[in-house]
Amino acid sequence: MRKKKVYLDYASTTPLDPRVFAAMKPYFSQKFGNPMSLHSFGKEASEAVEKARKQAADFFGCEPSEIIFTSGATESNNFAVKGTVIAFASHSRKKTKPHIITTQFEHSCVLASCKKIEEQGMADVSLVPVSREGIISINDLKNEIRENTILVSVMYANNEIGTIQPIKEIGKILEKINREREMKNLPQIAFHTDAVQAINYLDCRVDSLGVDLLTASGHKIYGPKGIGCLYIRKNTPIRRIQDGGGHESGLRAGTLNVPGIVGFGESLRIAEKERRRNYKIVEKMRDYLILRILKEIKGVRLNGSRIKRIPNNINLTLINVEGEGMLLGLDMKGVAVSTGSACSSGDLRPSHVLTAIGVSEEESHGSLRVTLGKYTTKQEADYFLNSLKEVVTRLRKIAGK
Ligand SMILES: Cc1ncc(COP(=O)(O)O)c(C=O)c1O
Repeated sequence: MRKKKVYLDYASTTPLDPRVFAAMKPYFSQKFGNPMSLHSFGKEASEAVEKARKQAADFFGCEPSEIIFTSGATESNNFAVKGTVIAFASHSRKKTKPHIITTQFEHSCVLASCKKIEEQGMADVSLVPVSREGIISINDLKNEIRENTILVSVMYANNEIGTIQPIKEIGKILEKINREREMKNLPQIAFHTDAVQAINYLDCRVDSLGVDLLTASGHKIYGPKGIGCLYIRKNTPIRRIQDGGGHESGLRAGTLNVPGIVGFGESLRIAEKERRRNYKIVEKMRDYLILRILKEIKGVRLNGSRIKRIPNNINLTLINVEGEGMLLGLDMKGVAVSTGSACSSGDLRPSHVLTAIGVSEEESHGSLRVTLGKYTTKQEADYFLNSLKEVVTRLRKIAGK
């Protein structure tokens, strides 16, 4: 008999939607041209890339020329942080060191980019704290703004606890502050959001968010891996970080990943069309699971706000159980979940996100992230729940708790 397999790790990656795969297929084989080539093969590929750029622009409510394709969100986030600092360094007449504001619980690729820039003496960085609910305070952020601040980077929805940040409000405040700064001849503050986990569920139109830079990734939205984009509002000062040819309007060198780009465009088109429906489906299932878990398993806490949270995320702390043990126990039953972010799995340090919201090191080790998706069924949810109950009971018994 084939082992039952239940995938509940959609924040880590998602399966490819068959419609996306169908759109991509011809660009691996017969339509293989390089979009930079001037002949008909190149033209065919370049038309496909431009169609995808238009699909992305429609999704984000921007001009196609404001979409720069990258290899994914890690690159987009590196580009947003480092590219902004490099642009400032090359434009600024006075040799002022710029300042960046971000949050304590950003994805590691934002935090590591900021750290590197800071270590190299290219910028100062401030980290805004996060409340127990997993949300930053706008006042804390405002208090960090200095004369030399050039970038604010705040993620839209957190990848571990799913909490939603007040991006629209921050956008409005920064717009006002930027108007005042213009009169005082101070540098403008660019506003970046890592919207990777929000795209499936939330409004990501850049004008309604008030962002200048926005990061997206294909494989979190039922698209392919190794593709994403950085939205760059027209006239935002930014320099490329990957040098070479003149691809992507000179902002990102490297032969374009045509099948990936086609798939990414198609996945954004589908995400927009099905957003409301998918929101309702996963929200209902998530609420059902949270309710039953809290009722039927002792010593469990939900991490992060219950309300200001994307609808597919459940992040739990279970007292007197090791997260690793739960993950492996569930895996033996064919259920895939995570103990932290995909990128920090295998790392035994407590999650920086849980630490930021005040979860102790010990409790952090008993945490589990369960993320649902558009293919999750009620049967799968029930199978997971029963498996979790069994695994937790067994582990607590072994530990004598
Ligand atoms: C919020 C967030 N930002 C960035 C990334 C990195 O994305 P990619 O795999 O496209 O590099 C992830 C993936 O885990 C993420 O969840």
